[in-house]
Amino acid sequence: MIARNDPCWCGSGQKWKKCHWPKANPAPSFDMQRDHYRKQYGIRLKNAGEIEGIRKACQLAAKILDEACAMARAGVTTDEINTLVMRRHKEAGAVPAPLGYGNPPFPKAICTSLNEVICHGIPDDTPLMEGDIVNIDVTSILAGYYGDCSRMVIIGTTTAEKKRVVDTSYACLMQAIEVVKPGAMVCEIGDVIEKIAKEAGCSVVNQFVGHGVGCEFHEPPQIPHHKNTMQIPFETGMTFTIEPMINAGVRDAVIDSKDGWTARTADNRPSAQWEHTLLVTPHGVDILTLL
Ligand code: MF3
Ligand code: CO
Ligand code: CO
Repeated sequence: MIARNDPCWCGSGQKWKKCHWPKANPAPSFDMQRDHYRKQYGIRLKNAGEIEGIRKACQLAAKILDEACAMARAGVTTDEINTLVMRRHKEAGAVPAPLGYGNPPFPKAICTSLNEVICHGIPDDTPLMEGDIVNIDVTSILAGYYGDCSRMVIIGTTTAEKKRVVDTSYACLMQAIEVVKPGAMVCEIGDVIEKIAKEAGCSVVNQFVGHGVGCEFHEPPQIPHHKNTMQIPFETGMTFTIEPMINAGVRDAVIDSKDGWTARTADNRPSAQWEHTLLVTPHGVDILTLL
């Protein structure tokens, strides 16, 4: 019989307890977790190489979004912003993911959602006006990897109600990010967001959700922003978005039947949204679309 402090039987020269001493619960290897998440939830946990690619796509999306937002002011059309984003993708050897996406195919490179538009607004030739609030949403494909982010811009000065949805949706995003770490549950995101929105007298859209992203545009899991019961624990290597859509009035969305995309609030009151792509790390979370 060998004792804990004897040399290990394998001949390593180390003590048995430091070498082949049997462990009660060995931490599952990355490959085992990856397999488990794929089978159990359809979620793809990313390895180091994939993370590197996704990080680059996210940084490009964030940089292009930054430029697009800087361009947004009274008199500029959302089409002009779309043109800049298109050009920046070409220069980087990247592709804007929205272009031709879905059914009917999305016609532009970005989404620009003004005032009562919740999301999926289509750039056009209407100039931005003083007092508008606009969400610009950029998703870039670089070397096959995806990065997805959006921000609000206030054009000049606006109403208290519009400012409230802009500030509340930002607080919802940033505080929801705080809960992300291995072992925390997807449903905790909705708890945090509903609480903040309620305190501000706003509602949380439930017809659109955050999503896994990275190797495809929209991957499992869905990340609801409203109260829900999704018992999926976050795990290292998950990449996904949080993108709360917060309304001043009712939560309900109505999709424009003419274009099949533009989602407006049912009561035409303002809506706002911010979005980041996130990576779950062993100790918490990395905001991949932060510049
Ligand atoms: N970028 C949006 C998101 O955050 C999706 C836009 S779909 C599109 O998921 F087709 F409108 F581009
Ligand atoms: Co998204
Ligand atoms: Co987006």
